[in-house]
Amino acid sequence: GLANTREMFKKAVDGGYAVPAYNFNNLEQLQAIIQACVETKSPVILQVSSGARKYANATLLRNMARGAVEYAKELGYEIPIALHLDHGDTFELCKDCIDNGFSSVMIDGSHHSYEENVALTKKVVEYAHQFDVTVEGELGVLAGVEDDVVAEKSTYTKPSEVEDFVKKTNVDSLAISIGTSHGANKFTPSQCERNAEGVLVPPPLRFDILKEIEKRIPGFPIVLHGSSSVPQAEVDTINKFGGKLDDAVGIPESQLREAAASAVCKINIDSDGRLVMTAAIRKVLAEKPGEFDPRKYIGPARDALVVMYKGKNENVLGSAGKA
Ligand code: G3H
Ligand code: 13P
Ligand code: NA
Ligand code: ZN
Repeated sequence: GLANTREMFKKAVDGGYAVPAYNFNNLEQLQAIIQACVETKSPVILQVSSGARKYANATLLRNMARGAVEYAKELGYEIPIALHLDHGDTFELCKDCIDNGFSSVMIDGSHHSYEENVALTKKVVEYAHQFDVTVEGELGVLAGVEDDVVAEKSTYTKPSEVEDFVKKTNVDSLAISIGTSHGANKFTPSQCERNAEGVLVPPPLRFDILKEIEKRIPGFPIVLHGSSSVPQAEVDTINKFGGKLDDAVGIPESQLREAAASAVCKINIDSDGRLVMTAAIRKVLAEKPGEFDPRKYIGPARDALVVMYKGKNENVLGSAGKA
């Protein structure tokens, strides 16, 4: 069956790597994630956002994730698979997921006051732990769009708060804000430098804050949201075939490698999958205008996703071979 994140995180912290947390909203994304993680022998966290539940239906999504456990076995190698609620914003939403087979939930109380965040997170943890479901909390606010919550500027996690938060809530992992953000435009051009090729180079993540957090809660599982790298090749393909993505910029893979080697044991990636899928579909539709069988353009997109996810596990997160 589905696994919670406890064992996964313990191994990741000890082993100096990060477990991939990939979002899915449809069949082909799920197939690609499972195929890539089986082929690289990597544990995986399947993430469902409230937007995904609205788009694809909550019942269908969770049964697809359950089916994915069987599908992975069929592919020939058993890997730990967690089904995780991404950015839960209320107790009721978390409870609904816990009551319906999720093995892990996030309660994102980061936009509340510290005291309200503690109370809400504690309430979710007390409920979840009765069913052996693990809980991710968040301290600090990421810049950009977090579902419906818009934070204009990021507020970095305050290291002075983490020990108290973890102790009071009994949460299993902690998402932090050290300079990542959601989506394909993580930094404005004015925040970046341009290299010789004219490509935007973002400011580095705040590893000093991460180190300070690690010092306060040694060995505690840390989570990084907003960790897509926004590959320039995918952006270029999208723009070449009729798209218009301006100033797209993500987190360089070298930074994520450094994070994965630390107490960061879960790295969230959604936008890179969206970019790869869109690039592949645009290319097929542009090059084969007569094509109208969705399998003929979503299929190649799925193949491209497998390659991308395998690359993350093998070359960035270090989770390959850990299952
Ligand atoms: O945190 C954001 C994730 O990428 C999910 O995005 O809310 O559009 O499904 P979504
Ligand atoms: P990206 O937008 O960088 O892929 O982040 C995804 C995420 O944090 C999901 O919770
Ligand atoms: Na790690
Ligand atoms: Zn997120």
